[in-house]
Amino acid sequence: MDPLKNRTLLKVIVLGDSGVGKTSLMNQYVYKKFNKQYKATIGADFVTKELHIEEKSVTLQIWDTAGQERFQSLGAAFYRGADCCVLVYDVNNLKSFETLKNWHTEFLKQANPMEPETFPFVLIGNKTDVDGGNTRVVSNKRAIEWCSSKGNIPYHETSAKEDTNVDEAFLGVAHIALSNE
Ligand code: GTP
Ligand code: MG
Repeated sequence: MDPLKNRTLLKVIVLGDSGVGKTSLMNQYVYKKFNKQYKATIGADFVTKELHIEEKSVTLQIWDTAGQERFQSLGAAFYRGADCCVLVYDVNNLKSFETLKNWHTEFLKQANPMEPETFPFVLIGNKTDVDGGNTRVVSNKRAIEWCSSKGNIPYHETSAKEDTNVDEAFLGVAHIALSNE
């Protein structure tokens, strides 16, 4: 048997406003590192993570993108062939939650998937650690309602800083991306 036959490459694209913690989530997930210093992502770059799911070797190819508009110059070709889109917002930042609909629309427009209604998205609400949750402005309930309105998008809350729920969130991403393959 060809051992390569059981290998799957999944392309995942991470989108969301600048500063919500997209790069931090990926660095925590893949390198188990967190940096307090903010360094804006320019353009796009990917990291990979090897997983074993249902007897399959799965390579998650996770694309980090720039939230800052001036650094965004990714053409439609970049989005094509994506198996999952991860939307990230900051639970302490209302604007980053309200902008989710734009990221969602923009992704579908650029990636142009065969079945946009059922394309797998995952939502992550990040920075749950900040001030012990006292500065939080978007409730879990409100986030889940938004997910329902977009066709039952799975929702995860994380702290990239404290490494809370990060593995679980990306495992969820891998499962949903795999199911769409
Ligand atoms: P762009 O590259 O500009 O799109 O931003 P980004 O979404 O990649 O944000 P980034 O990961 O660079 O994080 C922005 C800032 O928030 C950095 O100073 C991080 O240290 C901080 N940060 C990220 N995640 C968390 C978190 O879970 N908790 C706390 N307290 N800070 C975080
Ligand atoms: Mg970044």
